[in-house]
Amino acid sequence: MNRRVLLAVVFLAAAGVAAAQIVSPSTDVLGAHLNYGRGCGACHAPHSGATGNGSAPSAGSGSGNVALWGEDVSSLYGKTIVTGGGAYVEVLPTSMSAATPDVAGMLTCLSCHDGNYAQTAMMKNKIYEALPSTYGTANSVPTLIGVNGNYLSEHPVGLSAAITCGSSSGWDCTQSNGVIHMTGARSSQFVSNYGFFVQPGSYNNTAVVVCTTCHEPHVMNVVTVARGSSSGLPAGTYATMFFLRAPYNPNDPNPQSNQTAQFCRQCHADKSNEMNGSTARTVF
Ligand code: HEC
Ligand code: HEC
Ligand code: HEC
Ligand code: HEC
Repeated sequence: MNRRVLLAVVFLAAAGVAAAQIVSPSTDVLGAHLNYGRGCGACHAPHSGATGNGSAPSAGSGSGNVALWGEDVSSLYGKTIVTGGGAYVEVLPTSMSAATPDVAGMLTCLSCHDGNYAQTAMMKNKIYEALPSTYGTANSVPTLIGVNGNYLSEHPVGLSAAITCGSSSGWDCTQSNGVIHMTGARSSQFVSNYGFFVQPGSYNNTAVVVCTTCHEPHVMNVVTVARGSSSGLPAGTYATMFFLRAPYNPNDPNPQSNQTAQFCRQCHADKSNEMNGSTARTVF
């Protein structure tokens, strides 16, 4: 092999690695939340909340006062949902003006995704994205939750689902006013290897898990990593699925990819490479 050919091969190999991480999707980033054509308006009514959206003549006062919310959430007010097998009890806010992170971070999602208490808008109760072959039975995953009348099989979520620093399972991070700082030796190594993309809610000066901690409802299939953000990954647009806020591509052609596990390790430190003496980084 002469030197020029060798250089070309090296260049192509490098380009192959980059292509596996950095993507430019050709589909609209709002994806499933184009809401079958209704668009932004399905969630945000420019005028008069759910009433202005034509969906609820008596949505109650306060409808639309937060994020111009256009779905009727009144049937969810004050409902108790118990997640994580029974250990996490969440009483949903009794109004859109409650000023707790479960208003914009949970009530909003449940106004369509609750299959028990709320009107389910235009939901088809079937995953929108095509699932990769690594899943069991492709495309039959439901999108309504709580349909059995309880939330026991849901990941802990709500004001009692607190993220801790320094415990036996937590990162060597610090917390102030409900904001996590991943500045310890191992947590900063994790941020450099993957990142801290999740956005916990802040309640009583404690970081808590709400739906929007893990999900960003405006962008379904890409995550933009900017230079200087809380991630050491090269800047660019990374593949994700399910509106997740971090690189999460179960369709990665590399069977050694650990990016989906890295997603969970943002909070589950004891299950990370950094906390278990491994030098493995994020593999795409
Ligand atoms: C599936 C529901 C949904 C759709 C569709 C949706 N949004 Fe949102 N949006 C939300 C939720 C939930 C929040 C509150 C998030 C929070 O504060 O944590 C929000 C917040 C916002 C905010 C204020 C906070 C911010 O991120 O700037 C703006 C502005 C916004 N949306 C604009 C839009 C526009 C424009 C569109 C269409 C391109 C759109 N949204 C479509 C759910 C939606
Ligand atoms: C206006 C109704 C509406 C609201 C509000 C809403 N969604 Fe959705 N969502 C949908 C629809 C419609 C789909 C497509 C699947 C279906 O029809 O069941 C969907 C699909 C999804 C999916 C699966 C996407 C895929 O890969 O197929 C996720 C994840 C999701 N939503 C999360 C959220 C979260 C988190 C929130 C709150 C921030 C939220 N949604 C609020 C209507 C809504
Ligand atoms: C701790 C992070 C986390 C939280 C909190 C969270 N989700 Fe998810 N969600 C995920 C992950 C990860 C997936 C993708 C699962 C997979 O790979 O199939 C997902 C998938 C989904 C889906 C697609 C259907 C499915 O079951 O896979 C919907 C709909 C959804 N989430 C809605 C919600 C709603 C509504 C809330 C709040 C009540 C919420 N999520 C809270 C991490 C989270
Ligand atoms: C934003 C932070 C965060 C992320 C991301 C996260 N978790 Fe959790 N998880 C928690 C918290 C907080 C708890 C409850 C306290 C604890 O166990 O540490 C929890 C609890 C759990 C539990 C125990 C539930 C029970 O019934 O006791 C499991 C299992 C779990 N998470 C799995 C996952 C998986 C799988 C992922 C990735 C898809 C994930 N988590 C991502 C914060 C998170």
